[in-house]
Amino acid sequence: MSKIAGCATAAALIVLAAISAPRLAFAGGQAPEERICSDAQALTDRDAATQGGCIAVDRRKGNCNACHLIAGAPSGDIAPPLAFIAQRFPDKAKLRRQIEDARRANPGTVMPPFGTHHILTPEEIDKVVEFLLTL
Ligand code: HEC
Repeated sequence: MSKIAGCATAAALIVLAAISAPRLAFAGGQAPEERICSDAQALTDRDAATQGGCIAVDRRKGNCNACHLIAGAPSGDIAPPLAFIAQRFPDKAKLRRQIEDARRANPGTVMPPFGTHHILTPEEIDKVVEFLLTL
C-alpha cells in the first residue's frame, strides 16, 4: 500500500473510531440524565460539564433547580432560568463569582453563597460553570 493510501486508511479508521466510540461526551444544553449522574464510578470518566450538571441538580450539592429552571430537570421558578448563559455571561469569572458568593452582586439575595459557605468545593464550582456554559 502506498504511503498516501496508508494515511488515508488510517484517517478513515480514526474517524470511524470516533463515530463508534462509546458516547462519553455530553451534548449539553440540559441536565444530564439521572442514570448518568447515579453511576458515580462512570461519572468520574466524563467531561467536566457533565459532572457539573450532575452537581447542579444534586439535591445535596447545588440543588440549583430548586430555584432556577434547568432544562431537563424538575425546576422551581423563583430565580431567572439558567439559559443562554454563554451569551449572557461572556465573562466566565463573573459567572463563577455569582456561584461562589451571589451576595457580592446582590447583598440581599436568597441564593446560597456556595463557595464562601463551603457548600461546593472550588473544583465543583468550576465544573458547574462548565455545565452552565452549555445551557
Ligand atoms: C434559594 C434559591 C437559589 C438557589 C438554590 C440557587 N440560586 Fe442562583 N439565583 C437565585 C436568585 C434569586 C437569583 C437572582 C439574582 C440574585 O438574587 O442574585 C439567582 C441568580 C443566579 C444567576 C444569575 C442569573 C442571571 O440570569 O443573571 C446564576 C448564573 C445562578 N443564580 C446560578 C446558580 C447556580 C449554578 C446554582 C446552584 C449551584 C444556584 N444559582 C442556586 C436563587 C437561587
